[in-house]
Amino acid sequence: MKKIACFILLFSSATTAGAQQNTFIRNLLQRMTLDEKIGQLNLLTSDMDVTGPFMKENYKQDILSGACGAIFNAYTPQYTRQLQNMAMQTRLKIPLLFGYDVIHGHKTIFPIPLGEACTWDMALMEKSARIAAEEASADGLHWTFSPMVDIARDPRWGRVAEGVGEDTWYGMQAAKAKVKGYQGSDLAANNTILACVKHFALYGAAEAGRDYNTVDMSRRQMYQFYLPPYKAAIEAGVATVMTSFNEVDGIPATGNYWLLSELLRKEWGFRGFVVTDYTSINEMIPHGIVKNEYEAGELALKAGVDMDMQGGIYAGQLKKLVQNKKISMQEIDRAVTRVLEAKYKLGLFSDPYRYCDSQRAAAQIMSPAHLQAAREIAQRSIVLLKNSNNLLPLKKGAHVALIGPLADSKKDMIGNWSAAGDHKKAVTLREALQERVNLAYAQGANITGDTGLLKKLNITDTGRTDEMLQAAVEIARKAEVVVLALGESQGMSGEAASRSDIGLPANQRRLLEAILGAGKPVVLVLMNGRPLTLEWENAHVPAILETWFLGTQAGHAIADVLLGDYNPSGKITMTFPRNVGQVPIYYNHKNTGRPLDPNNKYTSKYLDVSNEPLYPFGYGLSYTTFAYDNLRLDKNSMRLRDKLRVSVTVTNSGALDGEEVVQLYIQDVTASVNRPVKELKGFQKIMLRKGESREVVFNITAEDLKFYDRNMQYTAEPGAFKVFVGTNSRDVAEAVFELQ
Ligand code: GLC
Repeated sequence: MKKIACFILLFSSATTAGAQQNTFIRNLLQRMTLDEKIGQLNLLTSDMDVTGPFMKENYKQDILSGACGAIFNAYTPQYTRQLQNMAMQTRLKIPLLFGYDVIHGHKTIFPIPLGEACTWDMALMEKSARIAAEEASADGLHWTFSPMVDIARDPRWGRVAEGVGEDTWYGMQAAKAKVKGYQGSDLAANNTILACVKHFALYGAAEAGRDYNTVDMSRRQMYQFYLPPYKAAIEAGVATVMTSFNEVDGIPATGNYWLLSELLRKEWGFRGFVVTDYTSINEMIPHGIVKNEYEAGELALKAGVDMDMQGGIYAGQLKKLVQNKKISMQEIDRAVTRVLEAKYKLGLFSDPYRYCDSQRAAAQIMSPAHLQAAREIAQRSIVLLKNSNNLLPLKKGAHVALIGPLADSKKDMIGNWSAAGDHKKAVTLREALQERVNLAYAQGANITGDTGLLKKLNITDTGRTDEMLQAAVEIARKAEVVVLALGESQGMSGEAASRSDIGLPANQRRLLEAILGAGKPVVLVLMNGRPLTLEWENAHVPAILETWFLGTQAGHAIADVLLGDYNPSGKITMTFPRNVGQVPIYYNHKNTGRPLDPNNKYTSKYLDVSNEPLYPFGYGLSYTTFAYDNLRLDKNSMRLRDKLRVSVTVTNSGALDGEEVVQLYIQDVTASVNRPVKELKGFQKIMLRKGESREVVFNITAEDLKFYDRNMQYTAEPGAFKVFVGTNSRDVAEAVFELQ
């Protein structure tokens, strides 16, 4: 009886709160003029940070006149209070919403998302979002333009850095974790913020990996591989959605009624508000879909866009569109209601300054606990790609030569999209190592020898390269071991940073060859925002660590792994190709009608490179080793309502305690639509003491076997299935079962 009473009480209080909200907003809407309504749909950037092509000068005037309802790129309690004060001088005192790209931390910066994804730890991914929300909300912010969940299979695209890689199911798990971390269980709490799933939709499939380029795929490809992570964020309750720059089925996402109304609202039931990406309404003109801003505004609003980011089109065109009866007041009210509901849920109408608390900022921002969490997550984001003759971990007290353009670069440690991150507080590898080993340091080379690129990246050329290289060779000769920190600058990935050649810059390769020539053991520490082509490096360097851009605690985390204080457990979530000619290359590919047969010329292959990637999805080594035995299914045939128990014995067969990510993949061998050779459907990250064995169990249900069939119905079809369990997507044990 008690439980039922509790439920009724909870249900009735929720409906009362909902009714109060609806009444409040209805009453407010009735008092608003058309100009005031349109102002709520206008999002402008402050001049504190710039994240797009241009910015409006007199945005403060727009706040004072009620022509702007939300600001992005403004934070600190002081500055947001100053701007909120302006909004409180408007006739109806509707509070401003403050948004920002809190992508991988606010002030305490965590690894870039593609790096953090290598932890295979959803609790940690939720934790970093929670900490980011704690700090951002303490710093005056209500809303983050995160998580970015765009599936991407092309590492030439710079924005792979912001996502979690190529796998749909993994992307769904990460999307849920991030939304939960940012929004918590109560948006009315002052330490939770609105999340914003982006970029809706399919932005990661830009042709040739060139940012903002055409996207073209079948409906089936969308539903099966690219849309599920956005849907997972919606199902997790994400408060807002951001439209993408690209077209979907030939119509830009920002003006795509099917995408924003039919799919997002009717099919998926999304009830929050939709904001565009930076000036993406304006960009429908160069897309060639509308003639002018008037048409662009009409198309966007009718498609389902509620808020115009920085385009000024809603501000400039909606009134005319209503006066010309192109858009109804009802359509305007629908958009305004959604925006006002978000502000109401945050509690901004009762206290517009509740996020402007300097005491909280001082207590929360970069607290020791947050920095410790950043170090732990950074450690777990590191992937050991190679470790010949157990060169790693290094002996404590070893005489180490640390060389490379990324060995002592604070700015690069926090990566791209590090928004409010303070790079001056980032710990470099040099700073961390010099406390712990006998260290010599030389930069050795610039990040690139391409002076044009240096200029584009705003990197000053730090001197004559041959002298720098010579000095580095000298210290290498005198050391026991060399640690070489090479890769990309943070500006070589992220937005508008596609690369057609994804190898190490040529001058860094020259440095690497010169250092190898010095005859000492070399550990290559990579810092980069995308999978790189490393076939030469993999053939010539004994030990390779992939460290991405690990954030504020980067140096400590890398040193912890180099010196064995943390045994690396990271696994890549995006395939590393052998060369860029293989791209797009991903593990969950189709078999084709002529799968590779080395003895048959007429099968799917290249003349000049293997079909296999250099490092496959899910790959990552440890300082110990793990053995997989005894893969067992509790039945070899299952009905739709059954659970199939899959178990495997994993043993730590090495000399050190370590964590292993046990991965479960499934193949639907024959179906009404051809299915990938394998798809990730589960994983478990386990800690095993040296010598310890453990049975790891997965339960497969019909849900794991579903796909979009020939009629686009999401269903499981009877037939043969393969199940794979292993340490990555390539090295697996397999078994078969039948779905009846
Ligand atoms: C940028 C990005 C988007 C970001 C927005 C605001 O152009 O595409 O991811 O959230 O503008 O900075």
